[in-house]
Amino acid sequence: MKRTYLIIVAIFALVCTSCTKSPSLDAQIESKVDSLMSLMTIQEKIGQLNQIDPWNINDELKADIKAGNIGSLLNCPPSIVNDIQRLAVDSSRLGIPLLLARDVIHGYKTIFPIPLAQACSWDTSVAYDCGEVSAFEASKAGIKYTFTPMIDVTHDPRWGRIAEGYGEDAYLTSVMGVAMIEGLQGSNLADKDKIAACAKHFAAYGLTESGRDYNVANTSESVLRNWVLPPFKAAAEAGVATFMAGFNELNGVPVSGNSYLLRDILRDEWGYKGMVCSDYFSVEQMRVENYVSTNAEAAAVGINAGVDMDMMGKVYVAHLDSLIKVGVVKMETLDAAVRNVLRLKFKLGLFENPYIEADSAESHFYTSDAIAKAQRAAEESIVLVKNDSGALPLNASKLKSILVTGPLADAPYEQMGTWCFDGDKSHSVTPLMALKQQYGDSINIIYQPALTYSRSRDLVGIDAAVRDASKADVILAFVGEEAILSGEAKCRADISLPGAQNKLIERLSATGKPVIMVVMAGRPLTIGKEVDESAATLIALHGGTMAGPALANVLFGKVVPSGKLPVTFPKMVGQIPIYYNDFRTGRPADYRPTLIDEIPVEARQTSLGFCTYHLDAGVGPLFEFGYGLSYTKFDYSPVTLSATEITAADTLTASCNVSNTGAYDASEVVQLYIHDKAGSLVRPVKELKGFSKVKIKAGESVTVNFLVTAAQLGFYDNSAKWCVEPGEFELWIVPSSACRTAPAQFTLK
Ligand code: GLC
Repeated sequence: MKRTYLIIVAIFALVCTSCTKSPSLDAQIESKVDSLMSLMTIQEKIGQLNQIDPWNINDELKADIKAGNIGSLLNCPPSIVNDIQRLAVDSSRLGIPLLLARDVIHGYKTIFPIPLAQACSWDTSVAYDCGEVSAFEASKAGIKYTFTPMIDVTHDPRWGRIAEGYGEDAYLTSVMGVAMIEGLQGSNLADKDKIAACAKHFAAYGLTESGRDYNVANTSESVLRNWVLPPFKAAAEAGVATFMAGFNELNGVPVSGNSYLLRDILRDEWGYKGMVCSDYFSVEQMRVENYVSTNAEAAAVGINAGVDMDMMGKVYVAHLDSLIKVGVVKMETLDAAVRNVLRLKFKLGLFENPYIEADSAESHFYTSDAIAKAQRAAEESIVLVKNDSGALPLNASKLKSILVTGPLADAPYEQMGTWCFDGDKSHSVTPLMALKQQYGDSINIIYQPALTYSRSRDLVGIDAAVRDASKADVILAFVGEEAILSGEAKCRADISLPGAQNKLIERLSATGKPVIMVVMAGRPLTIGKEVDESAATLIALHGGTMAGPALANVLFGKVVPSGKLPVTFPKMVGQIPIYYNDFRTGRPADYRPTLIDEIPVEARQTSLGFCTYHLDAGVGPLFEFGYGLSYTKFDYSPVTLSATEITAADTLTASCNVSNTGAYDASEVVQLYIHDKAGSLVRPVKELKGFSKVKIKAGESVTVNFLVTAAQLGFYDNSAKWCVEPGEFELWIVPSSACRTAPAQFTLK
């Protein structure tokens, strides 16, 4: 049976949901803000811009709250949320409630896969579910504001925070980030189960030099506009309640003091009306990074650039009053920032409902709905990157004994991944637990951790695993990274498997038994040798609370893997940055060049091909963006186009028949890439412009149609001008960015 999918490829113009309240509601909120502002002293106004993480709840803090010197608290313990809120509402002069915030990056109690893993699903409903469940659980603990999604595009797996984002592509990051925002915020921020989201870190944090955190980011206007900003523009258009200015400098100017980003682009170009928060001390840090000389200057630069709320720096509350008195900061600048904060508090319904239901939070955590959504997310986030001779799926009826080994096989804390403040490892179901639960009665499951943690170099346990391998029909090796090896300030210059895990895989492979390697990490790893030594490899990254059942279902074929990589896996760290939408160069490596060990001794300077590659890495990555296998086989027909010549006013329909010619019903992520063959700037070899994840029954096929508008063909030049240039274009509808099928061609007149 043939079905047809019509996917309208929208630029990033996503319908605004939570910001387009009916004018009357907006007008009501504005008049409430006006009347409250008219009552506030300058001190009370400045207090609203002060966000504090109360490392301890002491009398000084309580006095500050009563005095109206604090507008928002980070990380307030749920047990005292109502008491603290009552201080603000009942004891301060104007009773303005506190904005209570906490990082809920990929789940509050029910932990979803890390965002990079969610991006492997190429399924926006996964991000939406994560947002919805996160907001439902966090709001019950009094949290009404969280700092997610992180939509920093990056090409650097050395950077620990790659775990928190959605990978290397602006389009995929945009749609996943918007889905997370919609799940968190819903259509009404005042809904008791919804919380305010935060588009962060604005901007270019993902370009941090050498993948080292907090480092400088230098880039061109065109890269900023074409790769860095689109996810943030999409977030703004989707109605994200807040933005966060980051730690990094952009071309020498700290982004927390960067009026080009925060006013010219965010406010003036995009018309954004939400609230901008700094990152943790990021305003005060402008003194540390030698941008300004004093905290007073930092405060002036921050608020004048457009940072409304000062997270933890305490420089606004210390200096704004005097800065206004001397005219360095205008009163209207202060008022605009305070209005943004108060507007958010009114939208969240904090004035009407500042308190949570006491003692009921626990009953809202880990519901069957939340657990089911977390497991589905984990299942869809698993990527099959190797499956020699059908090693997978495992057939339970034919297996008598399996060896389960590796430091991530039974690591309930590690599988939750980074930025997991409130997840409880006692709720994690590990791969070992799931395998025992599902197959322990029929298969002999031997467990040897081999290494007690991912960094361990103690080889003794490996001997035991190798010994027990002789008793097993198949070896399941769960390797990767502890959670602490990824996330903020967890950058690695060597991204191979930590510790002696490479030895473990090598020794297991030498037993001759098939090794199924499962990688649970927070980043791409240079695992080429280990992949070669395995019969099959699954990339699961940190899959959250339900990583175990998800992996068990994929390993035994109850779920067919459908994930695709959202980020390039380099062969070696020296290839970084390496990404799919790169540039052809004037000397492309269109052929297989000589590799370092093939070069004759005393070879002449001109004896090797002159093309763009590394002698010791060759051409291309280990696994490319968009890559992922299935247990079934999908065949793609040649692309047909509704026209081979269009004008800027036309819409092109690109169609492809995708057939499931294998034995399993499965989902496939059908990807649309476009290449501009010439432009006023050199154009990437291909760019993702759309995708659709379609379910296709074995033996059936679907027609996938993409509607492409001329706007998809445009780009920003280095003067920030949007260019849609006539010329020749190539178009692919393929299963991965690396597919070399002949493109369809069309002309833009
Ligand atoms: C951190 C992070 C930011 C986080 C904030 C609050 O340093 O950079 O992403 O939301 O501080 O914890």
